[in-house]
Amino acid sequence: MNLKDLFIDFFVSKGHKQIPSAPVVPENDPSVLFNTAGMQPLIPFLLGERHPYGTRICNYQKCIRTNDLEEVGDRTHHTFFEQLGNWSLGDYFKKEAIEWSFEFITKVLQMPIERLAVTVYGGNETIPFDEESYNKWLSLGIPKERIAKTVEDNFWIAGESGPCGPDTEMFYFRSDDEIPDVFDPEDERWVEFWNDVFMEFYKDSEGKISDLSKKNVDTGMGVERTTAILEGVNDNYLSSMWKEVIDLIVSISKLPYEGNEKSMRILADHVRTAVFISADPTGIKPSNTDQGYILRRLIRRAIRHAKKLTIPVESEFLSEIAKVIIQKYKKYYVELEQNESIVLEVLHEEKERFNKTLEKGLKEFERVIKNGQDIDGISAFHLYDTYGFPIELTIELAEEKGLKVDVDGFNKKFLEHQALSRTASSGKFKGGLAGNSELETKYHTATHLLNAALKIVVGPDVHQKGSNITEERMRFDFSCDHKLSDEEKKQTEALVNQWIKEGLEVSVSEMNKNDAIHSGAECMFIEKYPDVVTVYSIGEVSKELCGGPHVKNTSELGTFRIKKEEASSAGVRRIKAVLE
Ligand code: SER
Repeated sequence: MNLKDLFIDFFVSKGHKQIPSAPVVPENDPSVLFNTAGMQPLIPFLLGERHPYGTRICNYQKCIRTNDLEEVGDRTHHTFFEQLGNWSLGDYFKKEAIEWSFEFITKVLQMPIERLAVTVYGGNETIPFDEESYNKWLSLGIPKERIAKTVEDNFWIAGESGPCGPDTEMFYFRSDDEIPDVFDPEDERWVEFWNDVFMEFYKDSEGKISDLSKKNVDTGMGVERTTAILEGVNDNYLSSMWKEVIDLIVSISKLPYEGNEKSMRILADHVRTAVFISADPTGIKPSNTDQGYILRRLIRRAIRHAKKLTIPVESEFLSEIAKVIIQKYKKYYVELEQNESIVLEVLHEEKERFNKTLEKGLKEFERVIKNGQDIDGISAFHLYDTYGFPIELTIELAEEKGLKVDVDGFNKKFLEHQALSRTASSGKFKGGLAGNSELETKYHTATHLLNAALKIVVGPDVHQKGSNITEERMRFDFSCDHKLSDEEKKQTEALVNQWIKEGLEVSVSEMNKNDAIHSGAECMFIEKYPDVVTVYSIGEVSKELCGGPHVKNTSELGTFRIKKEEASSAGVRRIKAVLE
């Protein structure tokens, strides 16, 4: 049986309700780009709000941590991982949490007790030593030599402030060496795989600690690591979780895994994360900001490493790998199958875009370093701007040659360029606009009209979730809980055409972001915008934060036709439309 199923069954048998995995992009928390732990979507409940499923819950949560994206390529780092968790929301506390952790790992997973060790919170001047956890482990049969007391590593908090508390962590001795009697948490042969956090405190932004209204338990077990432990492999990519993916990469590259591990691991890991991001109901697409930028970096880095593996980059290798991943995970994450066509399209389109410039960009890179010199900011920016090389890619390429990149110089150039594009109203916040041809500009204006029309016909809850424009058509994703009726489609189309006929003027102004929002301007993701924003208004009917460009008057648009209305993802519909 799969580890996820074993875990859920076990905690359900202990009175827990299983909750679904939340999307990888947090729904109501603009402070982080991705969910980085199972507890993140549960913060309101850890702070005291009542959870609709009660006080004992468990799940497996998709998580993404990109702070050490560049580390991926070794045996253990991943950008995407799944965390198993059980939570007590003011219900049980240390005794049951530790007893159940112990029962699960020794009885269900049958890990031998002689390979186990734990850490507990050692105490400081404000929070005392966690004696209760220490004694509990002792009573369960963990010898005192295998219980280490630490302070910094045994206090858990997500980020700088929020619910937090002392924790106890479980380790497994993953080595063929003789097991030392005394456990040393710094010895890397001991691998941490599960963490029980006793969340009884709240740390505010000034660092002040206070008591939470309830004492909670938050646990997190890494699926990847634990699977590798159970299967006795010390390279995560050799566990059953990766077998099909690595086998496929071996077969399409016609190279062995040995000797090519780094690029193969990067390719496997990055495609998996890209699959999960682009299948998310939030509809993230590759872009130059925030989550979209991470997605772009992942795909482009994957392509670069595929090239190193001599995989022909014009082939559909990304889709092939993605399909294996979707197949493997769809039982647990239905959105992968539901959004498979979106995922494959995202990968394909980004690959096409990058392939256009990759070869030339690599040549340009070679030219820049031909005398063995480091890369200055202007050259790094040129590689970014003209050849689509994310700065991190340039740094990685440089590192491989033992060279450095002037990142500060790059950033300076980047900011100058941003300021310039803002005044030219053709900045980077153009939401899916692929180029600036005349036709695309028309479609861009039509997108605003469609957004405004849907709000009137379908309801004020309609919000843009994404858009994509080519010279042939526009595509518009929006929040809506039902399939549009023929009547709704007809009315929407008619309203847009009426506004086109009325010849409404399109005007632009620069405003402070907050003023713009208060004036009722529509925007997709508020946190994505700079402090000073451009706002486009179309007559009295539409007002949106946008980088443009747009036509001067709606009369330039021709006739608007809805070609297709379909589901995009859960709660999101998609319209494809043309201007004739
Ligand atoms: N929040 C803790 C962690 O991520 C336990 O779930 O490790």
